[in-house]
Amino acid sequence: MSEQQVWKRKSTFIFAAAGSAIGLGNLWKFPYMVGENGGGAFVLIYLFCVLLVGLPIMMSESIVGKYSKGNAIDAIGITALRSNASQWWKGTAVIGMISMFFILSFYSVVAGWAFDYTYHFAAGNFAEKSVDEIGAFFGGLLADPQRLIMWHTIFMILTALIISRGAKAGIEKSLGIMIPVLFVLLLSIVVYSMAATGKFSQTVDYMFSADFSKITPIVVINALGQAFFSLSLGMCVIMTYAAYMRPDVSITESSAYITLLDTGMALLAGLAIFPIVFANDMSVGSGPGLLFVTLSTAFAQLGTVGTVLGVAFFFLVILAAVSSSISMVEPFVKWCEERLKVNRTAATFIYCAVVWAMGLVTVFSFNLWKEVDVMGTGKTPFDLIDFVTSSVILPLGGLLIALYVGWGLSPKISREQLFKLNGFFFALWLLIVRFIAPILILIVFISSILGEEKMTEVVNSIVAFFN
Ligand code: PHE
Repeated sequence: MSEQQVWKRKSTFIFAAAGSAIGLGNLWKFPYMVGENGGGAFVLIYLFCVLLVGLPIMMSESIVGKYSKGNAIDAIGITALRSNASQWWKGTAVIGMISMFFILSFYSVVAGWAFDYTYHFAAGNFAEKSVDEIGAFFGGLLADPQRLIMWHTIFMILTALIISRGAKAGIEKSLGIMIPVLFVLLLSIVVYSMAATGKFSQTVDYMFSADFSKITPIVVINALGQAFFSLSLGMCVIMTYAAYMRPDVSITESSAYITLLDTGMALLAGLAIFPIVFANDMSVGSGPGLLFVTLSTAFAQLGTVGTVLGVAFFFLVILAAVSSSISMVEPFVKWCEERLKVNRTAATFIYCAVVWAMGLVTVFSFNLWKEVDVMGTGKTPFDLIDFVTSSVILPLGGLLIALYVGWGLSPKISREQLFKLNGFFFALWLLIVRFIAPILILIVFISSILGEEKMTEVVNSIVAFFN
């Protein structure tokens, strides 16, 4: 195994993992998922998933990574060996790496949109544009495969350069500045959009009062998937980063901070976007374009200040996306380095080239293959990749991690790693990883397979049985 590095400062793990967690998932995906899945009902279930499933699984991944200090596959291998558990558990990390590959392929294309917006804001092309013109601009971007491919290529090269040069350390240091700046900027946008539109109460009502009739199995599975996506869980990314953790850093505290930061950013993004949606009579369910169209509309009305804000905001979106994308390359490259003994640069560039090629499927899903309906699912290839990876494979990876840490891993190891947790909370954590999280994930899965009607029937018969 390669020479072990350890992050020097206590806070580095928090910033690196928060850098992985905070990204397009918070700024771009969360708001449009809220819009497409029933507003407050989705937010409520999302928060529930984050607290009850996400946080305990983040702690579980951290335990395995921090204990074994190696790449994710071997981290599971080593801990399984010391716990007399089966080596088959390593499959969990393999599944994680597969989903990481697919997620990065579309992540890079979307990050490319932020490049395009930064460029056009800087060129002053948005000033004084109307809502319709801005909507048309977004449509024009999606309809142009060459432009999408150009930005997608630049983004993948940037990611590959950072990973191959080992410039990760630099990125991680700059995150200490980037995260607070992004936070302050988002907060100012929230204040501005609330004040300028007068839609404060409508937005708060939309996001925080749940209409329970909107809760369907598909809403729940999307909320669970979004929690995994946003917290970078189920893919052994957090496990990989935890391998560099200093021994005296507390897993519990770090996980709590990361979860809090990530959730806060997602909620802020929603609070910034929805007032603009309501004030301009846009549709909440307009999908992946929501962030780009709404915020550009607000910035466009602000003249020069808007131009500066537009450049600053979309540039920060790029940084947030890069700090996430590098975390989707590092686990595989670390494994190649340690196990196949291949050169870091070669591994990085080959991997990124393959991801890049896969990304073309997403690029074409917005133009040439826009009408393609994959296997009668009503989804384009991009929609399908996104749904299958985020809402199915990630929770499945999370389920396996919970089962492994709950049942496979020796409790002695987890007790030792969660040294800051008192007896009661340790027991509670173990209860969640052993029973609650796996059962919840399974129920969500089964219900989404059975479909809504069948599920209602099952629930009704269970209720009738107890009556
Ligand atoms: N959590 C990141 C985001 O919210 C995306 C991501 C997923 C990164 C999985 C790494 C692993 O943008």
